[in-house]
Parts: sequence; structure tokens; C-alpha cells
Amino acid sequence: MGSSRNSQRKLRLDPDLVSALRDARHVCVLTGAGISAESGVPTFRDAQQGLWAKYDPHQLATPEAFEENPELLWRWYRWRRELVAEANPNPGHLALTQLAELVPRLTLVTQNVDGLHQRAGSHDVIEFHGNLFDDRCHAEGCVVVHNQQAAVPVCPNCGANLRPGVVWFGETIPENVRNQSFAAAADCSVFLSVGTSSLVYPAAGLADIARENCAIVAEINPNPTLHAETYDFAIVGNAGVVLPKLVESLAT
Ligand code: OAD
Repeated sequence: MGSSRNSQRKLRLDPDLVSALRDARHVCVLTGAGISAESGVPTFRDAQQGLWAKYDPHQLATPEAFEENPELLWRWYRWRRELVAEANPNPGHLALTQLAELVPRLTLVTQNVDGLHQRAGSHDVIEFHGNLFDDRCHAEGCVVVHNQQAAVPVCPNCGANLRPGVVWFGETIPENVRNQSFAAAADCSVFLSVGTSSLVYPAAGLADIARENCAIVAEINPNPTLHAETYDFAIVGNAGVVLPKLVESLAT
């Protein structure tokens, strides 16, 4: 199934994908940084603008880096918070809220920590890598609400440093988040991989779980990933263009 559908790859939407979505009992969508690119939020791995082209992830996105220099990490994450706070959801985020209305069940799993899906109106979003705006106790993991202005805020319960509520390299995905996402990927009839390089596991494995369970898998990305050849459909284009078109085709 994979290769024959894939060989029909084209810029226009494939009617087979539209009819698969029309018949779908459960659609699972995995989004990555690419869906927020059109909102002005930089991706991680795009050659020129990607964050990891300018910054070393090992200095900014590991627990060891935080323990060594918490002030530096807080400066960087505050800068990202400001950048995201100024951004707005784009037509790609909005189209996913509409898609949820058009199919019997939709599970939205995002690797993004920017909260733009929720601001667009999506409900029950599974935040695979956490949320940029949460402050967590680095010792106990609980989310803490506070109004400290310190360069490095501390947990009012135990005095440990607070940290941004995102998952860093070398850390595990919270069990409930992992279980819910894996279950949705295994159960869905159509899996959409949107705006992700599919390089970071375990999130990148969700499409494989869907395929192993006979779901139809489609990728939406202006730059087809290494996985695209194994998927049923690879739609080459920006999420903010392709997703609204997909929703429009489904609605008519
Ligand atoms: P990447 O930066 O690795 O990949 C972004 C993808 O988005 C690329 O494949 C781009 O081609 C694609 N893209 C760019 N513009 C797009 C657009 N307008 N529409 C659709 N796609 C577009 O980002 P992720 O795959 O999300 O982890 O990265 C995964 C994880 O790596 C992130 O969650 C983060 C990072 O380290 C943590 O912070 C734990």
C-alpha cells in the first residue's frame, strides 16, 4: 500500500487521502516545530533559522546544563517565552481545530511547547515535550505557580531551583503522556505527521506504531523527511496552506 500511494505524491491533495480522512474513525495528528514556523516561531533544525543552528542543545536543553548554569538557561527560556507570547496561531493550527469537528475522534499530540494549538482552540492537546510556560520543581517535578522575579526562581515547598516545564535531552517522557500517545497512534485509522523532522524519539516512533497497526500515514512538510518514502502520502507544502486545504476538501 505504502509505495503505490506514495508514488502518486503530488502538490495537489490526493483524493485518496481526503477519502481516507472522510472514512476515518480516529485521526491522530503529531505536530512539530514546522506548524508554528508560519507564526514566526523558529524551528529547531532548519538550516539557517533553526534554533539548533545557532545554539548548542547540550548547553541549553539538558538537565546537566541547567544544573551547571541555571541563570543562562532561564535567560534563554525567558527569551523563548517572550518570542512565543508575541506569536499568534496560524491557519495550520486553526485548521486542526476544524478537523476535530469533522471527524468522529481526533487526538492531537504535539512536540511543541508553545501552547499555540490551545490558543487556536484545540482541546485535550497531548504535550509530548511539556509546556514552555510551566515552571517545575527541578527536584520533585511538580508544576509551581509563583510570582518570583528572581533570575532563578525556587520551589516554595522544597527550596530546589525551578526550571521550565519542558522535556530536555536525556529525560524521559512522562508515563501518562507516553501511554496516551502510543495508544492513540495504535488505535487511529489515519495518522498525520505535520511539520516535524521525525528525528527525535520516542515521538518519531508514533508514525511507525500507526503503520504497524494498519493506519494510513501521511506527512505534511515542505521538505520531505527520510521517512516520507515509507508513508502512504507525502504532501510537500507548508502546514498553514495544506491543512486548511485538507479541511476545505473534507467539508465539501
Ligand atoms: P525540527 O526543527 O527538527 O523540524 C521542523 C520540521 O518542520 C522540518 O522537517 C521542516 O522541514 C518542517 N517545516 C518547516 N516549515 C514548515 C511549515 N511551514 N509547515 C510544515 N512543516 C514545516 O522540529 P521538530 O521535529 O519539532 O525537542 O523537533 C523535534 C524536537 O526536537 C522538538 O520538540 C525539540 C527539539 O529538540 C525538545 O525540546 C525536547
